[in-house]
Amino acid sequence: MSKQVFNFNAGPSALPKPVLEKAQEELLNFGDSGMSVMELSHRSKTYEAVHQEAKRLLTELLEIPDNYEILFLQGGASLQFSMIPMNLLKEGKTASFVMSGSWSEKALKEAQLVGEAKILSSSKDENYRSIPEVNSSDINADDAYIHITSNNTIFGTQWSTYPDTKDVPLIADMSSDILSRPIDVSKFGMIYAGAQKNLGPSGVTVVIISKDLLESANEQIPTILRYQTHAKADSLYHTPPTFAIYMLRNVLQWVKDQGGASGIAQTNAQKAQLLYATIDESNGFYTGHATNESRSHMNVTFTLQSEELTKSFLSEAAERGFVGLGGHRSVGGCRASIYNAVPLEACEALRAFMVEFQNNHA
Ligand SMILES: Cc1ncc(COP(=O)(O)O)c(C=O)c1O
Repeated sequence: MSKQVFNFNAGPSALPKPVLEKAQEELLNFGDSGMSVMELSHRSKTYEAVHQEAKRLLTELLEIPDNYEILFLQGGASLQFSMIPMNLLKEGKTASFVMSGSWSEKALKEAQLVGEAKILSSSKDENYRSIPEVNSSDINADDAYIHITSNNTIFGTQWSTYPDTKDVPLIADMSSDILSRPIDVSKFGMIYAGAQKNLGPSGVTVVIISKDLLESANEQIPTILRYQTHAKADSLYHTPPTFAIYMLRNVLQWVKDQGGASGIAQTNAQKAQLLYATIDESNGFYTGHATNESRSHMNVTFTLQSEELTKSFLSEAAERGFVGLGGHRSVGGCRASIYNAVPLEACEALRAFMVEFQNNHA
């Protein structure tokens, strides 16, 4: 029997238990090959089937239209901060950024190293407590693209409806909320996400890019950094992270079993509601960082009334098996990351603990 913990880590984070059990079961003999999936050639038929199934399931679950390519890359979402402008920000064009947190800042900084990039709107002045407004009159129809971070892992805010950017391609970093709810992929020029929150272990980054953007991408950059290289080679230009893609496939199968994106969205809403209600009913014992309309269903950020109380909360929580509740150093306080694989029971247990802690310390 392994130790019982409630994993609220921000990423890498909880994986669905059935997915881990399946990996364990198949670890030494995958698909009757007599070896682990990690030991297979990435050119073998057995691995190829896994690779294609992962793409097929992602297409099905996100209803990705035919005019998009799915790429499995390495380098994390962070490499995308550079690859996007290298591929898609042409000379004489500008990329616009909606600033909703530290990850938007990092994405902007990398784009500025490559070309012209500017801020379209920002909520930095209020310590990123909300998703900034985007006025359609501020959008320049000639921009190369507009970049947003759909869920702000550190600050605990999330876009509820995406901005209408008309003909300017919308690019979204969905690292911390991809596949947590249904989305209309056709509204985006590109979506990208490191896998280690909702899709699997770290090591693979998913890119979903429209063929229009792909075809217009810059070819005067190193081969491995071109989207076209990976699209042409079906993400097998070089050795892909085969084990991470195998795990991704298993996570996607699990999401399908949960009723797909809409099924999982319902559970996610229930989980988030439990924790936000606990904060709202605490008479100020707990304070949420995000404004109500920008609250994330993936990362619930909150503070207690003093540093001392926060410390006792975190240490008592740790003793009770709650892992990963410390807030990011730039916000302080606490954060419960409740990605797809975190079960409702974990949120119920956390709610009960928060109420009990308040009763003992208020
Ligand atoms: C929204 C967001 N973007 C980007 C990143 C960076 O991702 P990676 O570590 O895969 O480069 C993270 C990591 O937590 C994130 O939450």
